[in-house]
Amino acid sequence: MTYGDSPYLVQRIPQGSWKISMNYLRLMKYPGSKTSIIPDIENVFRRSGKRIFVDVFGGSGSVSLNMKFASIVYNDLDPELVNLFRAIQYDSRLLQDLLFEALDAYDFKRGRKTTPSNKIPRSEAVRKPSNPGGKPGKAPDTRAAAQTILRFTMSFGGLGDTYGTKEKSSKGYLKKTISLMPKISENVSEWTIENLDYRDIINKYDSEGAFFYLDPPYSDRKWYGSNFRERDYQNLMDILRKLKGKYLMTVDAHDELLEDIFGDPDYIKAYDNRNQNPSSGRKPPRMKAFYTNV
Ligand SMILES: C[S@@+](CC[C@H](N)C(=O)[O-])C[C@H]1O[C@@H](n2cnc3c(N)ncnc32)[C@H](O)[C@@H]1O
Repeated sequence: MTYGDSPYLVQRIPQGSWKISMNYLRLMKYPGSKTSIIPDIENVFRRSGKRIFVDVFGGSGSVSLNMKFASIVYNDLDPELVNLFRAIQYDSRLLQDLLFEALDAYDFKRGRKTTPSNKIPRSEAVRKPSNPGGKPGKAPDTRAAAQTILRFTMSFGGLGDTYGTKEKSSKGYLKKTISLMPKISENVSEWTIENLDYRDIINKYDSEGAFFYLDPPYSDRKWYGSNFRERDYQNLMDILRKLKGKYLMTVDAHDELLEDIFGDPDYIKAYDNRNQNPSSGRKPPRMKAFYTNV
């Protein structure tokens, strides 16, 4: 089915709109990152009139980083990602230094480090946190956080060639991340960061003042440390039915399993497919289904 045949309201995002989204803050490449649909998420959030934005499946943080005028609760079950955002809160300048050194040390052609990892200084324990208001507790591992950014950015999450990016663009991408770090850190310093299963985070924050953005793992791709089975989507549906707050869930459109569980989406939108080699021709647009109670 093409977007023109869809029985639902379908809006094609005009070509070139991704150039606008390039102005959004982003930290690293990540499978399923939602940079291109941020304006649509922002729109629904604004209409909800809520101030607390709970990013239930936060991933690379691309959505949370760009929600303005909101109290952000970032959540992901993956402790590696949570360590990364805690490290940004704790000492983003050290993280920036480590990435800068990695930029020199990394062999962008071969996709591996040319200098041993022990050359990357491990001094976070003696540095003062850049976010004195941050939560006390065990200091995050800033060196591991730098490795996380490198791993995802260089190999697109270790997913191999299929989603690999060209060496030049990876290097340029990393340079941009380093230059964006002060702004990223400014935003992240205000976040509440959680490391909970989606059932627990929703239970913890559900209230009339909350807005939940839900970008669950895909039903047909095992991209994450933790992926979803049918019963996870069913549990999510049961939770959404009883939710006190507002929500927006975005998933791939025309997924039979998801449509059986969640029903017809409120609307579907088509987005230009940007994950492609320009020489291999145009790919069909990506169809995203939006479910919301706003
Ligand atoms: C589609 S990705 C989210 C991408 C994110 N919106 C972004 O822009 O980067 C889904 C995320 O859900 C996380 N996840 C998987 N199972 C989870 C669970 N049970 N509870 C919370 N998060 C989970 C994965 O680690 C992954 O980062």
